[in-house]
Amino acid sequence: MSAEYQVNANLAVITLNNPPVNGLGLATRAAIVDGMKQALNNPDVKAIIITGAGKAFSGGADIKEFNSPKAFAEPSLHTVIHLLESSEKPVIAAIHSVCMGGGLELALGCHYRIASPGTQVALPEVKLGILPGAGGTQRLPRVVGLELALNMIVSGAPVASEKLAKTALFNQIAEGDLMEAARAFALQVADSRPLPKVRDIRIDYPNHEAFLQFSRNTVRAMAGPFPAPLQCVEAVAAAVTKKFDDGMKVERDLFLQLVQSNESKALRHAFFAERAASKLPDVPEDTPMRPIQSVAVVGAGTMGGGIAMNFANAGIPVKILEMKQEALDKGLATIRKNYENTLKKGKLTQEKFDQRIGLISGTLSYDDIAQADLVIEAVFEEMGVKEQVFKKLDQVMKAGAILASNTSTLDLDKIAAFTSRPQDVIGTHFFSPANVMKLLEIVRGKHTAKDVLATVMALSKKIKKTGVVSGVCDGFIGNRMIEQYSRQAGYLLEEGCTPEQVDKAVEKLGFAMGPFRMGDLAGNDIGWAIRKRRYVEKPQIVYSKTADLLCEMGRFGQKTGAGWYDYKAGDRKAYPSEVVNQMIVQHSADIGVARRKISDEEIVERLIYALVNEAAYILEEGIATRASDIDMVYLTGYGFPLHTGGPMFYADTIGLPNVVMAMEKYAKGRHGDAWKPAPLLARLAAEGKTFN
Ligand SMILES: NC(=O)c1ccc[n+]([C@@H]2O[C@H](COP(=O)([O-])OP(=O)(O)OC[C@H]3O[C@@H](n4cnc5c(N)ncnc54)[C@H](O)[C@@H]3O)[C@@H](O)[C@H]2O)c1
Repeated sequence: MSAEYQVNANLAVITLNNPPVNGLGLATRAAIVDGMKQALNNPDVKAIIITGAGKAFSGGADIKEFNSPKAFAEPSLHTVIHLLESSEKPVIAAIHSVCMGGGLELALGCHYRIASPGTQVALPEVKLGILPGAGGTQRLPRVVGLELALNMIVSGAPVASEKLAKTALFNQIAEGDLMEAARAFALQVADSRPLPKVRDIRIDYPNHEAFLQFSRNTVRAMAGPFPAPLQCVEAVAAAVTKKFDDGMKVERDLFLQLVQSNESKALRHAFFAERAASKLPDVPEDTPMRPIQSVAVVGAGTMGGGIAMNFANAGIPVKILEMKQEALDKGLATIRKNYENTLKKGKLTQEKFDQRIGLISGTLSYDDIAQADLVIEAVFEEMGVKEQVFKKLDQVMKAGAILASNTSTLDLDKIAAFTSRPQDVIGTHFFSPANVMKLLEIVRGKHTAKDVLATVMALSKKIKKTGVVSGVCDGFIGNRMIEQYSRQAGYLLEEGCTPEQVDKAVEKLGFAMGPFRMGDLAGNDIGWAIRKRRYVEKPQIVYSKTADLLCEMGRFGQKTGAGWYDYKAGDRKAYPSEVVNQMIVQHSADIGVARRKISDEEIVERLIYALVNEAAYILEEGIATRASDIDMVYLTGYGFPLHTGGPMFYADTIGLPNVVMAMEKYAKGRHGDAWKPAPLLARLAAEGKTFN
């Protein structure tokens, strides 16, 4: 059952019951219609109350029915709202906890609304690249006014019901028992006629044209590549400038346009991808978990400090272990400084500051961390050092403790083999800065136990990360792919580009940063060290020498004040570098490559298709569980533009046969071997299929 119907003392109560948030799926909508019919046909019923069971009034559309014909099947939300609004008997919405999207639109179709304080009220559709399509853009401005409605619809952000107490959205804020208040109110208005309808309210906003124009300008500047925010303004504008029914038509047209847009498809893809990533086919949702009440981190360097902050932020005590007092003091001081900066910016209260600092402590002794439920190693990236640490952890840590490594490139199975308990070993690959970046690659070793995986996946949510599981391979999902991207970026320099041209081309597409600005930020020496290892281990892989030449010039990036670009003290802006550009041109001459003009289109294709092709191998090898996991890695860890939905979704949008065709073209150029389509990509393209 998705809604319950009850009659008591002349009042009918329809209670939405579709856990977890009473989504307005087809069955729920049908049950509301059914309840309304019964109530209207029962002469004893004087008024009808609609409320929600459990944790919400209604969270809006039922996400289980998204992208299915059920979402728009009759009775549609429009039909239901029309039925409520035109009811001859008063309909009262009794609202609590969550009232969002279609849930708010439903409430706006009722004659009266009573809410509990603390209810989260929102029209969040814009976050999925659409707009409220069941009258929300037309009715909300009529009850809360033009400005507030526009803010709510364009931002999608929730507002607490008590903040809306003075608006016509709520007839009453019920401080005590909501249903008791709703019943009393319903009996009071039972015989009152005519019944008030939101659609009949006139919006009175002097000089609305000037305000709307100002809003268009501001929203256009903020919306970037997303069309929805501006269309939200247009829909709300129609509420002011047109009759209600005409405004509804504008809303409908804009909604249909947006639903079809690639940007909205990408946002909806990301929304579902995030949920899918937290599930593994062979780790059932009821897998028992190990309690994590305390955490230890080994190594207080760049990563260790940031990792520790995540746990303190989530209220979990964390001990950091270092080899020397000096390194420990330095690490703890950096953490304190980070928190102090947040405090100064007013983004943290003094109370929270004290609490978080109080949860972090340091030690030089393994005995002090032995009782931790989870220990994360973040020491130097050398197998010998990892060996030392894991052997020691194996000796001291209590039975059942989870032993995690933050390694970015080393073989987790080898690390696990240093212990007598490989089932307890897992990779937690944080991204820098670890207290900021959303992505957490969770590396599943050959022997990692399912309860360890389930525990770390749940923990990633608790520390507000997007956890994506990767199998063991060199670089895991993200860095293994970026290697192919970086190689192409290097070849592009040799063939005619400047670092600036390459960066600008992908930044125009919406990348947070192009490959060379990224290298300067992360430190070019890190890639250099990896390449040096590869020259020995995998001599068949060809890299452009430009990056090595850059490092030989001592240009490691922002930290040395010079990298692919020049930097000025106290300024993070990248200035094109004359010497670097000369070095690149000279290198092309040295290797006998005639430089040519390269289009932005070629740059973007080569960089992104290199990612996509490697990703296809990763998917086929089972390193990633699903294509959308790869998209999540790139959206949350590598600044891939959200409006494209991630590399795999982007390739699907372009069409895999087109991707393969472009690759065949590049295969005829230099280093053509890199462009052999991965078997999975070739197969899907031939069959006219997609990754996602
Ligand atoms: N820096 C990054 O961007 C990044 C990103 C993801 C993963 N990682 C990985 O995280 C790990 C740490 O990297 P980092 O950048 O924080 O390095 P770092 O050099 O900044 O810090 C390493 C810290 O470990 C300490 N240490 C070394 N050996 C130790 C031992 N035996 N016992 C206790 N402490 C010891 C050092 O004193 C140092 O403070 C590496 O495995 C690295 O590959 C780094």
